[in-house]
Amino acid sequence: MSTDTQPGRPTTDQPGVPRQGGRRPLLPLEDAGRASLFTQARTANRFTDEPVSDAELAELWELARWAPTSANTQPLRVLFVRTEEGRARLAARMAGGNRERVEGAPAVAVLAVDRRFHTRIPEVMPPMAQLQEALEADPAKREGMGGFSAAMQTGYLLLAARAVGLAAGPMAGFDAEGVDADFFTGPDEEHWHAVLVVTLGHPDESSYRPRMPRLAAEDVVRWA
Ligand SMILES: Cc1cc2nc3c(=O)[nH]c(=O)nc-3n(C[C@H](O)[C@H](O)[C@H](O)COP(=O)(O)O)c2cc1C
Repeated sequence: MSTDTQPGRPTTDQPGVPRQGGRRPLLPLEDAGRASLFTQARTANRFTDEPVSDAELAELWELARWAPTSANTQPLRVLFVRTEEGRARLAARMAGGNRERVEGAPAVAVLAVDRRFHTRIPEVMPPMAQLQEALEADPAKREGMGGFSAAMQTGYLLLAARAVGLAAGPMAGFDAEGVDADFFTGPDEEHWHAVLVVTLGHPDESSYRPRMPRLAAEDVVRWA
């Protein structure tokens, strides 16, 4: 087996041999990158007036869309709300303090699951085209699979926000049916269901609550 096919090993360039799937050598991220994405990154609550451009939001999605999903189904759908009118309409559907978080954010992403994501399987995973019929016949399996993969994509989207220099504030406290009715009115949005609202922007000084502890590795990790 060549090193090119061993998981976790850096790929090597050989003259005349194209890199499989355009893969690049796997390089560990340096400390600054790890801090921006993980150790120093925080959930943001309040933002400065600095605007977030559509180009930045497009760049964010350009990264997030590479998330792995079950059978490459990609069930997540994203609505970026940036206009004042749109944010006011969305804020009215938010619970408690989440309302002012949306009002005060320069941009907000509404993340949704497309409940009929399986209809795209022949396009996104041609070798498993028959999975479309299996999922059509099994709504519970469809919902479980869609929810899990959409959550994976959500995690990637939060990391992508950090990677383009934005802070994010995910919130599950909102009237999801109300958001669906208000925002997902297009012909292909009929089966979109909102699952998370994420504020995006440049954090204000007062943005952060105290960092809450993470569980210790001994409590979470086992070795076999
Ligand atoms: C799925 C999910 C739902 C959340 N819902 C809310 C919410 O409704 N309101 C809120 O203020 N924060 C909400 N949060 C923010 C969390 O409380 C926050 O991410 C967590 O405490 C970690 O904070 P840290 O990233 O600053 O360490 C939510 C986060 C996630 C991932």
